[in-house]
Amino acid sequence: MTRQSAVRRIAYCGDPVLHRPASRVRRIDDDLRTLLDDMTETMLEANGLGLAAAQVGVPLSVVIVRADADSDTVIELINPRMIEIEGEEDGAEGCLSLPTLRGSVLRPARAVVEAIDREGDEIAIEGEGMMARCLAHELDHLVGRVFIDVVEPESLCWLRPDEHEDTGYRTEPTTIEEARKAFDRMREQRKGS
Ligand code: NI
Repeated sequence: MTRQSAVRRIAYCGDPVLHRPASRVRRIDDDLRTLLDDMTETMLEANGLGLAAAQVGVPLSVVIVRADADSDTVIELINPRMIEIEGEEDGAEGCLSLPTLRGSVLRPARAVVEAIDREGDEIAIEGEGMMARCLAHELDHLVGRVFIDVVEPESLCWLRPDEHEDTGYRTEPTTIEEARKAFDRMREQRKGS
């Protein structure tokens, strides 16, 4: 019987699982394939560009990224490692574990990542621009780093829904400390619910 993939709960910033290094995957089995299926389901449902296993509470070296922003094609990377980077680019970033927060992060303009896929085959992914950013962001998760650890502090802001804006939201500046506290409160609320 095939199991339906399921949306898993995304850990918020401050959850210990997000702030420690992930363990290497030693065996690709059904549990791991289920994890990958669920990660895809979870990321697409939340409309994210990438997701690390730690974000669904599993401290393994596994990430997924969208092939591009408009497609549902997902690239699965097991035990990924950055083997090449080139250049630097400043750009806005967010994270499903830090919902509605945005900030500028300096990332490589081009990145090459080696990994294994769910069949156990070696793969290499080369990305430029948004893809390079996405790969760097997801690989950061594997060492327990989230984007507010590397953000340009003065660029940090909340996206607040605002029907008067063309984009549907306005930005509200915040600080790293304020943001951390807000996510602490979100985690507390979740515990209570
Ligand atoms: Ni993230």
